Amino acid sequence: MVLSKDFLWGGATAANQCEGAWDRDGKGISVSDICTGGKFGQSKRITPVLEPDTFYPSREAIQHYDRFREDIALFAEMGFKCYRFSIAWARIFPNGDEAQPNEAGLRHYEEVIDECLKYGIEPLITISHYEVPFGLTKKCNAWVSRDMIDYFLNYCRAIFTRYKGKVKYWLTFNEINSASAPMGALLNQGILNDLEHPTEFMNQPDIPQQRYQGLHHMFVASALAVQMAHEIDPNYRVGNMMIYSASYPLTCDPDDVLACQHYNRLYNYYCTDVQARGAYPAFAARMLEEMGVKLDVQPGDAEILKNGTVDFITFSYYMSSCQTAKDIKGGEGNILGGVPNPNLPSSDWGWQIDPKGLRYALNDLYDRYGLPLMVVENGLGAKDVIGADGSINDDYRIDYLRQHIEQMKEAVKDGVDLMGYTPWGCIDLVSASTGEYAKRYGFIYVRRYDDGTGDFARLKKKSFYWYQKVIKTNGEDL
Ligand code: BG6
Repeated sequence: MVLSKDFLWGGATAANQCEGAWDRDGKGISVSDICTGGKFGQSKRITPVLEPDTFYPSREAIQHYDRFREDIALFAEMGFKCYRFSIAWARIFPNGDEAQPNEAGLRHYEEVIDECLKYGIEPLITISHYEVPFGLTKKCNAWVSRDMIDYFLNYCRAIFTRYKGKVKYWLTFNEINSASAPMGALLNQGILNDLEHPTEFMNQPDIPQQRYQGLHHMFVASALAVQMAHEIDPNYRVGNMMIYSASYPLTCDPDDVLACQHYNRLYNYYCTDVQARGAYPAFAARMLEEMGVKLDVQPGDAEILKNGTVDFITFSYYMSSCQTAKDIKGGEGNILGGVPNPNLPSSDWGWQIDPKGLRYALNDLYDRYGLPLMVVENGLGAKDVIGADGSINDDYRIDYLRQHIEQMKEAVKDGVDLMGYTPWGCIDLVSASTGEYAKRYGFIYVRRYDDGTGDFARLKKKSFYWYQKVIKTNGEDL
């Protein structure tokens, strides 16, 4: 058997993309609640002033807030050993700056955790997954301000204390390196400079100084959170969470190779070096200078980063890209840029499908950091069709996942220490980049559509039964 017997098979979601109940039980508004629906080729909008007749998908999402017991029962039926979900920060601290947490919010997640434990499912909790309380954006432009470190730590203290003894694995910030690109400013960091007018999500005015200063504050907050977690419960294990964007030089022209190295440093190593090695990499100074960024680093920060390195590394992996020094237009769907690879097919959303890139990613990260790894997002966003007999034959998704799991196993044979695998959107949910329901990832279909219709019923896809078999055989029968 290639994978360890305690391999954490499971699935992943995020609160803002599945819970709904956006204003219930004392929850405050988060930055994802001010994003409208959109679709591929038509950006969702950011509306700091909520519009009465506009469709906001996070309001109902897939009603996981009310149906989590039904959903977790389905996960258990597939044999999940682990469920990665996130806590909506604004359920615990509605505005973000309160002194005391909201009991109703804490109780809700306690129920979710207990429901997982009932089935022997290990909770893996993302503390901040694309939903900074909007109150903090209004108060201090969120992570641009150093005050955020204290707000975040208050939130961490509340949940670390409350769930002690029930939870083992925590992740500080989802896809922290999405803030290396303009797209990460709002969702990841809560940064919004115009609080009056709507803007296009994919076309926000960008101020790199804010993003990188924000990242510095997040690094310090993450390092302090790791230390706090270990003090509160020595059994806690805290990981980072990054996008791994595999990239290859488009040609063997040395300029393309250097362009690729630069890309890797910017997107794949900058954040993870700090979180896993405890210090900024040597290349950071020149890179920041060339972007016109001057970091405000306080005395004591270096010590904090050094003492707060993560226990394990987690990442999302969806696609790869090619890098070139030449002025060639980028692939439309690739969030972190790059040009298409002529050897690879693409999804309907322009994400290039590259299973071997996952083996490359695992080896690259393990070679560089030597820490246990976990693939906490991977999957194929596709349009699923319900057949006349009610079946949903998503063979394309099975093929995608099978090929990626095969490559994961190759990486383990290469010597990588791999803890687990939680494919993204194990139940259909709202897309983060486009804000639509039509981009489905799940083993479980949810009858909910972009025009606001649908009864939210859950249906098992063909991949549900396939994944059940995969887990049962610990990845031997693919
Ligand atoms: C990651 C995010 O970027 O990829 C998720 O952590 C997101 O929140 C997932 O949903 C897939 O992206 P998308 O845009 O297809 O939803």
